[in-house]
Amino acid sequence: MRFVITNTYDEMSKEAARFVAEAVKAKPDIVLGLPTGSTPIGMYKELIRLHKEEGLDFSQVTTFNLDEYRGLSSDHDQSYRYFMEDTFFKHVNIKPENINFLVGTAKDPEAECQRYEEAIEKVGGIDLMILGIGVNAHIGFNEPAKELPANSYVVQLAEETIEANSRFFERKEDVPKEALTMGVGSILRSRRIILLANGSSKKDAIYGTTNGIVTTEVPGSLLQLHQDVVLFLDKEAAVKVSK
Ligand code: GLP
Repeated sequence: MRFVITNTYDEMSKEAARFVAEAVKAKPDIVLGLPTGSTPIGMYKELIRLHKEEGLDFSQVTTFNLDEYRGLSSDHDQSYRYFMEDTFFKHVNIKPENINFLVGTAKDPEAECQRYEEAIEKVGGIDLMILGIGVNAHIGFNEPAKELPANSYVVQLAEETIEANSRFFERKEDVPKEALTMGVGSILRSRRIILLANGSSKKDAIYGTTNGIVTTEVPGSLLQLHQDVVLFLDKEAAVKVSK
């Protein structure tokens, strides 16, 4: 694992955006894996700036988002599809047909997960996966568990995740209890991976992700099995990092 540790959230976002921009320039038809959450918002903003001011071109880029709440349609304002449209897609020149998402309202969610895996395979796999991390070290929506499916699947959200994500919903009861997510195998098959984390609430998750022990009880720790991972951290998230 490699580390880029910055003083502020803003610097972390810019460093990560620069890394992604370089990857897009090196391979204009790159396949990206994308996260939601509050962490990557600054990175998306900087990528939009690079597009608008410096001509960073997304016209050949293909994207696969990591996860989606089960039961929320793409026009629901708390769906991840809506978040991505609003935060990033509508501000850059990604072609709508190159945007891929797990469909939260799919009648047969297992078949939907299978479809997603096949779609990833069909484009030749993910070149660069961008991740955030939950306070319990979940990646995508892979929650801590005794064992984890390798491929995309339907997951029951952990109580602490429902609690953490309730800040975006009117009432805690409105937070979906299930989601569709890429599996840890889908993530680890990506050629390169970067992970962004900021703030002291993530320090334990980052410790568990970097401390040399690999366990599905700390899903982020599985990234230690990958040979090309870069962590972009602000100094608060990095306090307990073991390199
Ligand atoms: C969410 C998403 C994850 C994200 C994480 C952290 O539940 N499923 O992909 O990385 O939680 O979110 P935040 O960046 O808001 O802390």
